[in-house]
Amino acid sequence: MNGNQLTSTDRDNILALYQISQVINSILDPEELFERMMDLAISALRAERGVVWLKDGGAGELSVRVARNIDRQAIDDTSGISRTVLDTVLQSGEVLLTSDAKSDPRLSGAESVVLSDIRSVLCAPLANKREVIGLIYVDSRTSANVFSDKDREFLAAFANMAAIAIENATLQARLREENISLRQEIRGHYQFENLVGRAPSFLAAMDLVHKVLDSAVPVLIQGESGTGKEMVARAIHYNGPRRDRRFLAQYCGALPETLLESELFGYKRGAFTGANADKKGLFEAAHGGTFFLDEISDIAPSTQAKLLRVLQDGEVRRVGDNESSRVDVRIISATNSDLLRDVKEGRFREDLYYRLNVVSITLPPLRERREDIPLLCRHFLENDPAVRTKGILQIEKKALDLLMDFPWPGNIRELQNAISYMAVMAKGDTIRPADLPENIRSVKPGPPSFTPGRSMREVEKEYLLATLKECGGDRKLTAQKLGISLRTLQYKLKEYRNNV
Ligand SMILES: Nc1ncnc2c1ncn2[C@@H]1O[C@H](COP(=O)(O)OP(=O)(O)OP(=O)(O)O)[C@@H](O)[C@H]1O
Ligand SMILES: [Mg+2]
Repeated sequence: MNGNQLTSTDRDNILALYQISQVINSILDPEELFERMMDLAISALRAERGVVWLKDGGAGELSVRVARNIDRQAIDDTSGISRTVLDTVLQSGEVLLTSDAKSDPRLSGAESVVLSDIRSVLCAPLANKREVIGLIYVDSRTSANVFSDKDREFLAAFANMAAIAIENATLQARLREENISLRQEIRGHYQFENLVGRAPSFLAAMDLVHKVLDSAVPVLIQGESGTGKEMVARAIHYNGPRRDRRFLAQYCGALPETLLESELFGYKRGAFTGANADKKGLFEAAHGGTFFLDEISDIAPSTQAKLLRVLQDGEVRRVGDNESSRVDVRIISATNSDLLRDVKEGRFREDLYYRLNVVSITLPPLRERREDIPLLCRHFLENDPAVRTKGILQIEKKALDLLMDFPWPGNIRELQNAISYMAVMAKGDTIRPADLPENIRSVKPGPPSFTPGRSMREVEKEYLLATLKECGGDRKLTAQKLGISLRTLQYKLKEYRNNV
């Protein structure tokens, strides 16, 4: 026979392998994959039974993953199978064929072959690119010479395909499990009990958060840096009906216009130099879910116009594309500047402002909710895994007083960082004033200083905030004491907030 010509058996085998590859590559559940794989091998090789062993991750011991018979039933007892056969294949890494096990000299010491009267055996290693991961085995107890050399080649090819399919299915299963547990973890993190605070201004904001959960209306979250804008945006997503879809965020501050547009809307191949392939934008990627536009006030006018289209018509158009596609995305945006002022001063489109701001949630700065400081400290001490390494620490009264006096320009983020610092510094189980960061420790509560050379504005601000603190945050009382109207007080506070 010419070595280059295929016999009809070869062709049958190739066809069978092709069909088998289609079946096993379409199964992603590992259990189902093993059963189907085994049944296919048994029937293609006219075997009586078949077994797959895989090596355990740790010690590399073989354990049975599937054992089946010709009737496509699971079999329990694989003890009669020769250990010598398995060891020989593991060591050589090659397929073993024996047409009469009883007289095969390689198996002369193999008691079990004789014991259970196994006649024909075919066994191949399952190997990935790096190592042997297991074995596939078929046998026949009734007759000798069941398997031929062609069958040996067939099983070798089959084992190669099976090893890849097993690896894919195992990886898929692991990723699926990991994905489920990560989703649960994320959802847990954004449960409402992790949004800590009891101050009326904070509770009012939370009340709004609850009201917008079930709808898809755009929400604008305003507040100083570190007040929890992103955390609230995520809480809205992970507690609402879109929780199983994606939450994607884009920071819009200080990004070149073209870069931001290609991130948000994607681009078509050839739209600009370097656009070598079509790219999906984040709006499309977030379809069905929520999109968080962070630091929205910095968006350039041309991008504002494109964003308006998304909000008005639910349509996105990739850069360089003539066609648009529809997306269903809930939009939450955030800013720490006064967006209305930007509108008045012509930096931000008014129509876009009203589209984004269907519901506006304002998060109060920490210095206006000082009563929440002890609560937040406790929360971080108990729940921040990095802080808890020493066990749950206590805070000495004097240290807590200092924390409550500090103005916290960086708000909750700054408090959280300070807690991490203090937890590292603390000796024993209590945080003392000496463990506080220097800038917090050195804040001296008391009357504002009137050192000559400071501006009227600075002195006024300090005096006003000190009075507000003395009045326990009661704005009406503060205004009375200062002899100004409540409106003026509120105006000044807002002004300070925007110019920290
Ligand atoms: N109410 C809260 N309870 C507990 N932790 C909070 C709360 N609000 C914010 N945090 C925490 O404070 C940190 C800052 O929050 P976040 O990033 O949401 O603030 P931000 O307003 O988006 O800040 P920036 O304007 O700087 O982007 C985060 O680690 C968040 O987990
Ligand atoms: Mg943020």
